[in-house]
Amino acid sequence: MTACHLSKFGFIVHCRNATELRLALLRYRFSPWGLFSDQKLKEYCLKKGFIENIFTFKELTSERQAVCQGKAFCLLLTPEQMLENQSIATELVIKACKMAEDWGAQMIGLGAICAVIGARGVEAAQSCSAAVTTGNALTVYAAVVAFEKIMQRLEADQVEPKIAIVGFPGSIALALTKILYERGLHLIVVSRRQTAFLKKFTDNIGTAAGSLEITQDLHSALQASHIIFTATSTGQIIEQNTLLPGSVVLDIAQPKDVIYCENGRKDVLIIDAGTIALPRSTKQPYRYSGFGLNDIPSCLGETITLTFEKKWEQFSLGRNLPVDKIEEIGRLSEQHGFVFDEFRSFGKPVSPENFSETKKALLGPHN
Ligand SMILES: NC(=O)c1ccc[n+]([C@@H]2O[C@H](COP(=O)([O-])OP(=O)(O)OC[C@H]3O[C@@H](n4cnc5c(N)ncnc54)[C@H](OP(=O)(O)O)[C@@H]3O)[C@@H](O)[C@H]2O)c1
Repeated sequence: MTACHLSKFGFIVHCRNATELRLALLRYRFSPWGLFSDQKLKEYCLKKGFIENIFTFKELTSERQAVCQGKAFCLLLTPEQMLENQSIATELVIKACKMAEDWGAQMIGLGAICAVIGARGVEAAQSCSAAVTTGNALTVYAAVVAFEKIMQRLEADQVEPKIAIVGFPGSIALALTKILYERGLHLIVVSRRQTAFLKKFTDNIGTAAGSLEITQDLHSALQASHIIFTATSTGQIIEQNTLLPGSVVLDIAQPKDVIYCENGRKDVLIIDAGTIALPRSTKQPYRYSGFGLNDIPSCLGETITLTFEKKWEQFSLGRNLPVDKIEEIGRLSEQHGFVFDEFRSFGKPVSPENFSETKKALLGPHN
């Protein structure tokens, strides 16, 4: 197949921190501003509104032999800048979408905070002729699959743990709550503020065999739960020493919610639950933006799946993600061969020792 006939996707991202901003400025702009203080550097980038084409997937092949190509466009802003200057950042996301469209993208995915601002993808979708998605549906699917597989691997599928969901009522946390509540699990949902939405949600959720408790107290939720799904937009809110021994944290957030430390605990699993791998049928290996070989964020996986399918429709937009859409994109991604069970923790493979120490702490020393 010649390159000009390939289906194309664009993926819009931003720098993950000031160090990445500095490196991007030096690499793509050869700018002496890259040598200035973090504060000056950030002010300069915000004023300039730089967008760089940072990565090309020349050709991706799925296990169903669908083929596509894509490019990632990066806003030179940090996550905090994106959240603090939302109207400027949304305009830049729209500009980046138009760059992707000009290149020929028929599907555009919004990564990390690009998917949070602008009414969670709605404003970008309204301004583009290409289809747009936040990729959140596959992200939810991947987190649930990770939970199921890890419980099996720990031989803890019979255990009925309490599950904390942090980052409610965000798009991802809301969908996770609905899915896990329907399964009759016992949930402690952490929301940072009391809003009318919470009352409406609890009034309308219906009855299931499980239970649902809403709290603003993150610490007490972590002390009462062995399974934690976490997906806040601010990140860096969970200290490892606040986790119960035997905890499994499915950290979906980007930037991460769990704070990295050099000698991390071995008796807890901290899983990069927003990371999946390209289909094994991928012919050329890719190392995308600081991820392991062929690892990608799951929201990019949704964008690629929709492109493989030539499904040029708006997919995951806004706060409410329909459960049938989550199931649909999960099924399609599995059919195309995306890999959901090569677990990573802070970007590295999870060691067998980490699994066995966590299992011992969760189930007792004889397991
Ligand atoms: N790896 C991937 O592929 C992938 C894909 C999609 C999303 N993500 C990441 O997942 C995260 C959530 O995405 P989303 O679309 O669900 O975002 P969202 O709809 O904006 O939800 C984020 C939620 O986090 C809450 N929150 C923010 N700071 C908090 C804090 N300090 N403590 C407790 N709650 C806090 C917000 O509360 P308020 O409602 O009070 O503002 C909001 O409800 C983001 O980090 C995003 O980058 C990763």
